[in-house]
Amino acid sequence: MPSLNVNGQTRDHQAEADTPLLWVLREHLGLTGTKYGCGVAQCGSCTVMIDGAAVRSCVVPVSSLGAQQRITTIEGLSPRGDHPLQKAWIDLDVPQCGYCQSGMLMAAAALLHRVPKPTDEQIDAAMTNICRCGTYNRVRAGIKRAAGIAVADKGASTTAVLQVPEQSA
Ligand code: FES
Ligand code: FES
Repeated sequence: MPSLNVNGQTRDHQAEADTPLLWVLREHLGLTGTKYGCGVAQCGSCTVMIDGAAVRSCVVPVSSLGAQQRITTIEGLSPRGDHPLQKAWIDLDVPQCGYCQSGMLMAAAALLHRVPKPTDEQIDAAMTNICRCGTYNRVRAGIKRAAGIAVADKGASTTAVLQVPEQSA
């Protein structure tokens, strides 16, 4: 029986070889924090980390993964849900409906894993996930808070970030 290393545990599964990792996580392993959005690697809602890199799990056939590759899902980002990004997300009320946010967090975690103090340009380049609710400014603020980056014009920019009007769903 094939197995995966998910959130530090060896997990066996019986999925067909061409099953996307997303569906193995959700349907076979019960890890439903990783969300389905588009299925074609465009939206990022299915983002997980594989060996520290952000990967869109909807287009990764499970057979392409070996048991030695470390897969991290939102459930494994922090055992107690207190990863600096998760704390920043709570502090800044980043999510609106929340559907895209596990993917956002995993993409952000991969970014900080690679670049502990990213510039705005590096954040923009890494965070290509789509949010229907338009939380982009708060996502960027959350990444900066988690990274310990002081916002240049603190009062104005932090307040402005929090006051950006939301699009209705
Ligand atoms: S569901 Fe994978 S990128 Fe949209
Ligand atoms: S919070 Fe991103 S889609 Fe709603």
